[in-house]
Amino acid sequence: MIDIRTKYAGLTLRNPLIVGSSGLTSMPDRIKEYEKAGAGAVVLKSLFEEQIEMQSDSLWKESDSSEAADYIHEYVKANQVNQYLEVIKKSKAICAIPIIASINCYKADMWIDFAHQVELAGADAIELNIYFMDTDLMYDYEANCAVYVNIIRKVKETVSIPVIVKIGKSFANIPAMIHLLKINGADGVVLFNRFYQPDININTMQIVSGNVFSKHSDLSDTLRWTAIVSGKIPDISIAASTGIHDWEDVVKCLLAGASAIQMVSAIYTHGPEIISQILTCIEEWMNQTQYYSLSQFKGKLNYAHIESPNMYERAQFMKYFSNRD
Ligand SMILES: Cc1cc2nc3c(=O)[nH]c(=O)nc-3n(C[C@H](O)[C@H](O)[C@H](O)COP(=O)(O)O)c2cc1C
Repeated sequence: MIDIRTKYAGLTLRNPLIVGSSGLTSMPDRIKEYEKAGAGAVVLKSLFEEQIEMQSDSLWKESDSSEAADYIHEYVKANQVNQYLEVIKKSKAICAIPIIASINCYKADMWIDFAHQVELAGADAIELNIYFMDTDLMYDYEANCAVYVNIIRKVKETVSIPVIVKIGKSFANIPAMIHLLKINGADGVVLFNRFYQPDININTMQIVSGNVFSKHSDLSDTLRWTAIVSGKIPDISIAASTGIHDWEDVVKCLLAGASAIQMVSAIYTHGPEIISQILTCIEEWMNQTQYYSLSQFKGKLNYAHIESPNMYERAQFMKYFSNRD
């Protein structure tokens, strides 16, 4: 009997496949479809800290006249905070799998109380999608880290459900950053978020949106850092995310040390059916390789368990190009 259950950030999932935060997970009925298709958990579409704080009149008046305020106003109208709590409650009422709420934030501020409401609504965990683009020429590394630390500390003081931090790749030292998150209370990390990709249309001379969906080739960084972080910080749960498109990608991430796998682009492209197809293939692979539980091979090829961990640190193509004209 094959057991594909996994422990992720203190939650027990029936399998490691999580539908990642996106428009896919904004409605309870669709979440139920993912449960039926076999998903181990879902992460709800993020609620933005601005949405939460726009509930406050003072903030509302401050930014009332700008174009950005108009945009946010429309967005807030369409995405009421209370609706978010309703999505949690309804999803919990009809689903048995864990429902992970997601908050997009970049400062520890008024919105933090909302984390408590998310917990009361029944969310099984909170994923904090923390990101701010720092282009300041007088960049202050410590201040930047302090933002993450303040957020995680305050949310952990506010809730007792697991708190997971979803990060991008733009840190000088990713393991050091995750270590900092861990010692300040993070129960898990998602490696990595994939952000809006700008592109330029040279015909219209406009800045346009690049590919919304990831490609298979985006997997490499996910694997590298999952393997390094799981080797160096074994007691933090990792959900691998970005570039995971088929069952082999999932197996690779588990071998690299992920406890769970988040998928978005592949589900947008192929529909919920891909979840059960992937699960079937993983079980077949486990059968063939005679693994009967994920723990038998999870992290087997991470930084701590291979003979040449520097394979994950190799950054230059010297060897490759020395053999080519
Ligand atoms: C249309 C779309 C909407 C997304 N919305 C969110 C969001 O609200 N919050 C979030 O944390 N990530 C969001 N993401 C990022 C995904 O959760 C995920 O991290 C990213 O797409 C990489 O995974 P993938 O390669 O499986 O697509 C979104 C991605 C897409 C394509």
